[in-house]
Amino acid sequence: MEVEDYLKTCKGIILPIGSTEQHGPTGAIGTDALTAEAVARAVGCITGVLVAPTQVFGMAEHHLGFPGTISLTPETLLNVVHDVVLSLAKNGFEKIYVINGHGGNIATVKSAFHKIYSTALNRHLPVASRLRCKLISWFHVLEVFEESKKLYGDKEGQHATPSEISLTLHLEPSLLQKQHSLPDPAPAGPITNAEDFRMRYPDGRMGSHSDLAKSEHGKILLDKAANALAEDLSKFLLE
Ligand code: NI
Repeated sequence: MEVEDYLKTCKGIILPIGSTEQHGPTGAIGTDALTAEAVARAVGCITGVLVAPTQVFGMAEHHLGFPGTISLTPETLLNVVHDVVLSLAKNGFEKIYVINGHGGNIATVKSAFHKIYSTALNRHLPVASRLRCKLISWFHVLEVFEESKKLYGDKEGQHATPSEISLTLHLEPSLLQKQHSLPDPAPAGPITNAEDFRMRYPDGRMGSHSDLAKSEHGKILLDKAANALAEDLSKFLLE
């Protein structure tokens, strides 16, 4: 009933989506879900917009060479996002703001949006003409990108980045115990299958100097992401 009351004044909801996958020798397997959820909650606090439970499994097929990784195939993820959003839309949510923590989800989630729009129309949902979905990856926010550039330069890399690990250290101090210095990572390159990934990036890092991560950086990055996305979400709700 609280949700019903909420819908009388706001039709927006934030949907955090992450992944459960290896993050190099010093990062947590839950990194992408932890970070997406933290940013989503912070944006929810600033804007008063409801935050849905986090989708912790994403499209991480290329990380399956490392035990502990749990991946959905692209078609499963597409269907999960489709079903979640349509459940919300059925009862009146119109503005779905997806805050993403994992680059591997982007293509699939965007495809899911197109299937969602078609299904909403075909099912004659009352919200079909007003339904809008938006995906933002917190690490692509300009302010975050600039800050990580300033902190790490080209040592940020592409996977198990010091930025994302910093954020998890800020959120979960027990992860400080996992931190130690690391040799230079394999340089970032192409991504194909799990076997090829493990061969190219033996310790799971793609050009990322994960050991530069610091919890105080994480706090700065979280604040930058939350403030920028709160502003973006407020505009999205008015579109
Ligand atoms: Ni990650």
